[in-house]
Amino acid sequence: MNVSVNLPGLNLKNPVMPASGCFAFGKEFAQFYDLSNLGAVIMKAATKERRFGNGTPRVAETASGMLNAIGLQNPGVESIITDEIPFLKNYHLPIIANVAGSTVEEYVEVAEKISPHVDAIELNISCPNVKEGGVQFGTDPALAKEVTRDVVEVSNIPVYVKLSPNVTDIVGMALAAEEAGASGLSMINTLTGMRIDPKTRKPVIANGTGGLSGAAIKPISIRMIHQVYQAVTIPIIGMGGIESAEDVLEYLLAGASAVAIGSANFKNPFICKEIIEELPAVLARYGFSSVKEAIGGAHHEKVETPVLRS
Ligand SMILES: Cc1cc2nc3c(=O)[nH]c(=O)nc-3n(C[C@H](O)[C@H](O)[C@H](O)COP(=O)(O)O)c2cc1C
Repeated sequence: MNVSVNLPGLNLKNPVMPASGCFAFGKEFAQFYDLSNLGAVIMKAATKERRFGNGTPRVAETASGMLNAIGLQNPGVESIITDEIPFLKNYHLPIIANVAGSTVEEYVEVAEKISPHVDAIELNISCPNVKEGGVQFGTDPALAKEVTRDVVEVSNIPVYVKLSPNVTDIVGMALAAEEAGASGLSMINTLTGMRIDPKTRKPVIANGTGGLSGAAIKPISIRMIHQVYQAVTIPIIGMGGIESAEDVLEYLLAGASAVAIGSANFKNPFICKEIIEELPAVLARYGFSSVKEAIGGAHHEKVETPVLRS
């Protein structure tokens, strides 16, 4: 079974990688299994300065997923380059840097610094949990275009734009990123949500709202990838609620060329390795002889999905 996939900047031995923010910089997970098993790794967000993130509590469980408002806690781009990336380089896998900022200049500075040290950039214009920056860039196609174009210009490596699902027109956002020179898309980030504690009558999360991830968001992500696949020519890294090899196949059929696994790592630290091991048998069970064959396999018939255009 051939499970390899070649995407801009990423020669993946299999299509499975951990999602940003759910695997830190790999050190903890390396105690459980050999990271070289992974298709690639996407690091926690890198910002210009060190960030301590939002106040606590910043994580809450929900019936079929979790809410988080970490607020892009990370040691800053310089420390990531000197203290984190060298460790990941011990393993045979492409490294993707998740780049965040609150102004175009910040995004550009971080991307320029980190691009010589990694294989691709995932441009995070979709974090719902930071006061300034994240949300506007991910919901306004003109701003998304501007930041993508400027980051692409200073990066000598492919840029994958990570889209926010908190929009009415996901296709418009995807096209904006493609037109600005993105090599690929990464989708989706979390959906803004809230839980309320009946005792205190206040939101459970100190930030008020948080990003919903996990099983609950999978159908939304599948729908968005299905829509976007029909509109763009660049590859998609799909994510949102993946917990099994069957889920991976569903993403491939919707149009993802590779996938990332987020919240499931918190329930089962072996999840990426287990899914990679199970994937060949699942593909074979449904009649596929390679991963490539399955990509976009649900598009033999055009499914009309409503799109709201402003
Ligand atoms: C605790 C936590 C931290 C996250 N941090 C980041 C981040 O730093 N950058 C980013 O682009 N996405 C971040 N995400 C979003 C995930 O990468 C992913 O897009 C999302 O959780 C959907 O996948 P899942 O349902 O498999 O978790 C974070 C998600 C969680 C749960």
